[in-house]
Amino acid sequence: MNIEELKSVASAIVAKQKGVLAADESNPTIKKRFASIQVESTEENRRRYREILFTTGGIERHVGGVILFDETLRQSTRDGIPFPQLLSSRGIIPGIKVDQGAKALALHPGDKVTEGLDGLRERLAEYKQLGAQFAKWRAVIEIDERDIPSPFGIRANAHALARYAALCQEAGLVPIVEPEVLMDGAHSIERCEVVTAQALQAVFAELDAHRVLFEGMLLKPNMVIAGKKCAQQASVLEVAAATLRCLRRYVPAAVPGIVFLSGGQSAEDATDHLNAMNAMGPQPWGVSFSYGRALQAPVLAAWQGQEDNVAAAQKALLNRCHLNGLARAGKYAHTMEGAA
Ligand code: 13P
Repeated sequence: MNIEELKSVASAIVAKQKGVLAADESNPTIKKRFASIQVESTEENRRRYREILFTTGGIERHVGGVILFDETLRQSTRDGIPFPQLLSSRGIIPGIKVDQGAKALALHPGDKVTEGLDGLRERLAEYKQLGAQFAKWRAVIEIDERDIPSPFGIRANAHALARYAALCQEAGLVPIVEPEVLMDGAHSIERCEVVTAQALQAVFAELDAHRVLFEGMLLKPNMVIAGKKCAQQASVLEVAAATLRCLRRYVPAAVPGIVFLSGGQSAEDATDHLNAMNAMGPQPWGVSFSYGRALQAPVLAAWQGQEDNVAAAQKALLNRCHLNGLARAGKYAHTMEGAA
C-alpha cells in the first residue's frame, strides 16, 4: 500500500467545499427510486440516469468523489466514455460500493451483518483496474425497543468493516467506513447518541486492531438524530451539537474526513445540519457530505424519466451540490433555498 497516495486521495475527496455524491444504489434500491417516478429500472434507464448525474456541468466544484455501483463502474456515456474515465477527467474521484448488503445475523434475532468479504481481495484488484480509487462498505445498525442492536451485533459489524478497510488499504483504495445507525423507528435522539457512540467505539477499536491507517480512510456516519417516528424531534442546533459531541469522543483526529449519510432526512434538513456543524467549527476532521437521497431526490423529481427534463434535473443536482458545498464551509443559509 502506498500510504501517501491513500492520504492524498482521502484528503482530496473532502477538500474545501467538497463532498461525495453517493450514486451507488444497488439494482433493487434504484428500482424503488425509479418506481417513485414511474420509470422502469432497465439497464439503459439506469445508465442514462447516471449519465445525467455525471455530466452535470459545475458539480466538480463541490463533488470530490462519486460512489458507483458495480454495474455503473462498467457503463459508459452515449459517446462511449467509461464513467470512471469521465469522472476522473472532470477532477472527480470514482469510488465503488463493495459490500453485498446486510443480512440477518445468525442466532441474533433483530441484528444484521453485512456480507461481501469472501473474494473481496480479488474484486478490489479488478475495481482498481477499472479506475476506482476508493470504496464503500455499509453496516446497518437498527434500533428497536428490545435490546437491539445487541453488543455482539455491533461487534460483528465493526469486525467486518475493519476487515474490509484493511483489504482496501492493502489494495491501494481508500476505504469509506460506514456504520449506519438507522433513523427508522420511534427512538429518542438520546438513544441514537448512545448507540452511535457504541458503534463508533467498536469500529475504531477494530480498525486499530486490523492495522488500518486512520489517515488513509474516511468515516461515513449517521447524524445523531431522533427516529423518524419519534414525536420529540430535536432542533438543528441540537442535532449538530449531539453529533459533534459523539464524534469528538470516538473519532481520532487522524481521520481526514467525516462524510455524513443523509439516511432519509429531507434534502434541506441534511444541508442545514451539515452547515450547523461546520459553523460550530473548526473541527479536528473535515466535516462533509456523502449523500444519496438528499442530493438525488430533487433530481429524480425534476427528471421523471423524460429527456425534455434533463436540463431541469441537472440544475436541481447542481443546486444541491452548491448548497451542500456551502454547508461544508458553514456558509449556507436557509434563505438560499428556492433562490436557484
Ligand atoms: P443516503 O444519503 O440516501 O442515506 O445514502 C447514502 C449512502 O450511501 C447509504 O449507504
